Amino acid sequence: MFNTIKKIGVLTSGGDSPGMNAAIRAVVRSCAFNNLECVGIYRGYEGLIDGDFKNLNARSVKNLINRGGTFLKSARSAEFRTKEGRKIAYNNLISEGIDALVTIGGDGTFRGALVFDEEFNFPIIGMPGTIDNDINGTDFTIGYDTALNTVVEAIDKIRDTAHSHNRLFLVEVMGRDAGDIALNAGIGAGAEAILIPEQNIGKESLVESLRRSKKSGKTSSIIVVSEGDQIGKNIFEVAKYIEDNLKGYEVRVTVLGHIQRGGSPSCRDRVLASRLGVASIDALLANKKNVMVGIKRHKIVTIPFSEAIKGDNIIDKELIRVADIMSI
Ligand code: F6P
Repeated sequence: MFNTIKKIGVLTSGGDSPGMNAAIRAVVRSCAFNNLECVGIYRGYEGLIDGDFKNLNARSVKNLINRGGTFLKSARSAEFRTKEGRKIAYNNLISEGIDALVTIGGDGTFRGALVFDEEFNFPIIGMPGTIDNDINGTDFTIGYDTALNTVVEAIDKIRDTAHSHNRLFLVEVMGRDAGDIALNAGIGAGAEAILIPEQNIGKESLVESLRRSKKSGKTSSIIVVSEGDQIGKNIFEVAKYIEDNLKGYEVRVTVLGHIQRGGSPSCRDRVLASRLGVASIDALLANKKNVMVGIKRHKIVTIPFSEAIKGDNIIDKELIRVADIMSI
């Protein structure tokens, strides 16, 4: 089929993630390679509504591959959730002559794209950009690998002080409702226990296993708690519960928070962002629309937005087993 796309808009939306700049760069340079015009849209869907646009060429994205955050900035737009807001956004796209969009973000970004297409039949390709790794249909999201490395580096430091003081540390990590960051960084950092929303181990059995490991000679411990975990919902209460029920351990809490979203992207994230950026333009030129480009078993795939946003994060049971065995 003949392709009529001449001008593409690119935006980043939702929580930022390391590698978003590399992703924008890849989109812009793929456009240049294919003789397409490219327009950067600032502050995600918010900027689409405000008409906050800037033409980008291959040189506009120099010296960006190594930078964290997103130079286009990001937002969680409340106005885009309204029909009126989306209508203004559509009118802006038409008056700017933009034929298609590439949106880089998480499930909220793709939900917005899905509704927008239903209303205006507008071609959009999504790229998964979130530290949470909670998007269906892709093995990895852009930013996840960097966040894992940030968490492991932080826990290595906590381990030094935990060991010096014979303390038990609870370290809270991000991930919203997904335990991927906690589980993988927990294994990588040698955690004693890992609490994730996908598996409820209960406070009692947590204390029981801590008691066993103390008896076996452990003098300090790290427990990684995902922010979405049921018993981790209030990490300070869990800390108190442990102190009350396991005598002889001083407990401290560290909430890693937004440092997990910043920093220079890892090589893995830069490569993923570059591959998916190229794939997003390839997909548009192949007349695909309203799909996310992702990676499955090292190969590029396209997944309808409706599939990509399907909740229920699936955790690899083998990883849980590895974590259990390592904490003996
Ligand atoms: O989706 C990315 C994420 O960092 C989640 O892990 C976290 O729950 C949320 O965003 C925090 O959002 P905000 O930056 O808006 O507080």
